[in-house]
Amino acid sequence: MNIQPSDYPHQDVYAVIGNPIAHSKSPQIHHLFAQQTGQNMKYGLLFSEVEEFEKTVQEFFAAGGKGLNVTVPFKNKAFAMCDELTSYAKAAGVVNILWMENGKLFGDNSDGLGLVRDLMDESDSLKGRSVLILGAGGAVQGVILPFIKAEVASIVIVNRTFEKALELVNRFEQEAAALGVHLGALESHWIENLDEPFDIVINGTSTGLTSNSPLTNIQANHLAMICETKDKSVLSYDMVYGKTTVFMQQMQDHGFVVKDGLGMLVEQAAVAFQVWRKLPDLAKLDTKIVLKTLR
Ligand code: ATR
Repeated sequence: MNIQPSDYPHQDVYAVIGNPIAHSKSPQIHHLFAQQTGQNMKYGLLFSEVEEFEKTVQEFFAAGGKGLNVTVPFKNKAFAMCDELTSYAKAAGVVNILWMENGKLFGDNSDGLGLVRDLMDESDSLKGRSVLILGAGGAVQGVILPFIKAEVASIVIVNRTFEKALELVNRFEQEAAALGVHLGALESHWIENLDEPFDIVINGTSTGLTSNSPLTNIQANHLAMICETKDKSVLSYDMVYGKTTVFMQQMQDHGFVVKDGLGMLVEQAAVAFQVWRKLPDLAKLDTKIVLKTLR
């Protein structure tokens, strides 16, 4: 059932817009953040037909809505609607946070920062880490800049279609060079020729939503073999949450630590909450407790 801002005249109303949307965990996450910080707000669901996205957004804000999270399949459309974009939104080319200020629609992207913050939970900093990212689509382009800003040592983008990985490398090479981050592109079958281990292996392909994996068993074996030479445990991560993907299973079978994207969902929500409510920092939001509640 779509939330109507006019039904809550004494609260600031937010929502997540998507199609489908019924199973979103965002209302639960934001209500927990509101409890933690004593904010008077209501967060609901907003379903939209694909061709009615712009109209649904406009009506929500016209009725007094304060902010929206945007999920599949609307992140591109949200980007195109904005009057103002943050640097993260511009770099990502997609938007997952909308809000209205002085009559202008603002867009931001916190997905990448959410992933980096979730990975940081495992270790205080990602500085000097080597990262292998599988995929070069919409989900991945939003995470490159936050990884560069976290000053990882290297990012290798591996994709079935090499040109898309190369395009991302070209797009971010200046920012990477400025912070001394090595950025590389690789076609998937070249995984079998890699000889350097990685600290973090991330599946950002859309295979997480299907019963496929971006890695053949031979490639998974090879990655495991080179990564085993690391003394610290290699983390493998799938941006999808709520299931063990084929990629996660493959890595688990090789003894890797695996994680799904639920932490990323909570962390991106924390950044959205901070942006909307203008919190000076994120310290007041206890994302670990929220994650524990959801699991
Ligand atoms: P999203 O917004 O989820 O990233 P997308 O922009 O369509 O969706 O990108 C999907 C990504 O998953 C791409 O990197 C795609 O590889 P290609 O660029 O070669 O198409 C990758 N992908 C999808 N199915 C795949 C599969 N079966 N094996 C390997 N990669 C796959």
